[in-house]
Amino acid sequence: MILKEIIRERRSAKSFILDKAIAQDKLSEIFESATLAPSGFNLQPWRFITVQSLSNKEKLYSCAFKQEQIRQASAVLICCGDRHVFSPEYIESVLELGKSSGSMNEKHADFLRGAIPTFAKFHPSYDSIEAWTNRQVMIAVTQMMLTAKSIGIDSCSMEGFVSKAIKENFDIPEHWDICCLLALGYSANERKFGGRFGVKELFYQESYPQ
Ligand SMILES: Cc1cc2nc3c(=O)[nH]c(=O)nc-3n(C[C@H](O)[C@H](O)[C@H](O)COP(=O)(O)O)c2cc1C
Repeated sequence: MILKEIIRERRSAKSFILDKAIAQDKLSEIFESATLAPSGFNLQPWRFITVQSLSNKEKLYSCAFKQEQIRQASAVLICCGDRHVFSPEYIESVLELGKSSGSMNEKHADFLRGAIPTFAKFHPSYDSIEAWTNRQVMIAVTQMMLTAKSIGIDSCSMEGFVSKAIKENFDIPEHWDICCLLALGYSANERKFGGRFGVKELFYQESYPQ
């Protein structure tokens, strides 16, 4: 499928075919696409917990307002954002990636050693760090949804869950924000397009509309 069709035809699955598991190589392809997402300063704060066992799906289901997709999906990802990516050690590991891939010289690395902590301290473009982690992680989630669609797998990103309950049940530390759940599997029903507002209604030329 070409990207235009994938974007147009992707639908959120509201129910999945039971017992139809996603092959491991397909899951790996989906996961790989998340790792390739862009992020601020290339900090890649996304972290994913893959839930596939019946017992853990059952636990997650009870933390997600008993939404059936959780129990039916072949796999559900708990998509998290790590707030600790602004630590000096982690920043150093990102700079190392850049240096070893040949995209970063020492001068630029030195600039980032100062700029990244300053950005985190003053956070001029967000109020709460949770907004920042969500901003990054949802791009990776979108890449997974589109990659899944391109290989015949359906998905549903979900915000209907209780963060506190998931953190308790899955031992997720305070510094990981849960951005969404991503259910993956084979849709049991064809869903109709729900409609969208158009470009004319959403894009404004140069400034806030008067
Ligand atoms: C951030 C986000 C959270 C969502 N949460 C839920 C959810 O908790 N349960 C659910 O069934 N669908 C959820 N959806 C799916 C939406 O219902 C769906 O995207 C929307 O109705 C448009 O339909 P489509 O994705 O099939 O085009 C969510 C979608 C997004 C992007």
